Amino acid sequence: VTEVITSLPRWRERIATLRASGATIGLTMTMGALHAGHVSLFERARAECDVSLATIFVNPLQFNDPADFVAYRMDLTDDLDVADRAGVTAVLAPSTAAMWPRWPTPSTTIHVGEIAETLEGADRVGHFDGVCAVVAKLLVLTGPCVTYFGEKDFQQLCVVRRLVSDLVLDAEVVGCPIVREDDGVALSSRNARLSAAGRRSARVLHRALDAGREALARGGTVQVATAAMRGVASQEPGFQLAYAATVDPASFGALAEAAPGEPVRLLIAGIVEGIRLLDNVEAVAGRA
Ligand code: PAF
Repeated sequence: VTEVITSLPRWRERIATLRASGATIGLTMTMGALHAGHVSLFERARAECDVSLATIFVNPLQFNDPADFVAYRMDLTDDLDVADRAGVTAVLAPSTAAMWPRWPTPSTTIHVGEIAETLEGADRVGHFDGVCAVVAKLLVLTGPCVTYFGEKDFQQLCVVRRLVSDLVLDAEVVGCPIVREDDGVALSSRNARLSAAGRRSARVLHRALDAGREALARGGTVQVATAAMRGVASQEPGFQLAYAATVDPASFGALAEAAPGEPVRLLIAGIVEGIRLLDNVEAVAGRA
């Protein structure tokens, strides 16, 4: 049965014991509301490391919109059940006060620079500073590990890689494929807040990405691919586009052009029924 730890010093001690026995540690950080996407990370950690550990903490520092923080669904009992079934050995589930004793007075945050200022970072100012603070804190607390992140939040994955590299944190960051429903919608804790109509509108993200990927594969430019994504997005009345973008998957820099055969990442975000949804796919530029 998954052990639940709420105190940070106790987490440290538990990990010291595991490490003393020679175990390698796979760590998945979450904000709860666990779904099959999280399970895929827990299982990958379990397959690649001796123990799969997880954290469940709704981090107030990364919510630029306080209403979003309040609306965030959390059911620790359900989540622990999911973690247990996925073979997670122990979960750190600290209170807000244990994690950020001074909150809501501002705590330490970490700004990684330009890649955290575009797209999600531009629309949700300060979001990644809060993500980086909690990720760095949990990695420091856990010590050497392999840490698993979903590609669904592709920008977050790139920002975390940069954080780990800049601060030489002792973690190997592994990006894992997006888990989708049969109709293509990427799994997200936020989907549960959509009505049936909203859930149908949410399919447009994946449709738009497909259109962008096809345009690129046919030899279209980055601009043509972006226009194809925008075109599909504009046909869905229930969807308000935030951005459609093409980036270099390694640097997360915006791309103005892609050479044939070059891998790129197409990203889209927008609002359905007041809920922000995002998605992305890998694509390859076709023949010129
Ligand atoms: O992706 C998430 O769930 C969160 O941003 C993370 C990485 C757990 C930090 O709070």
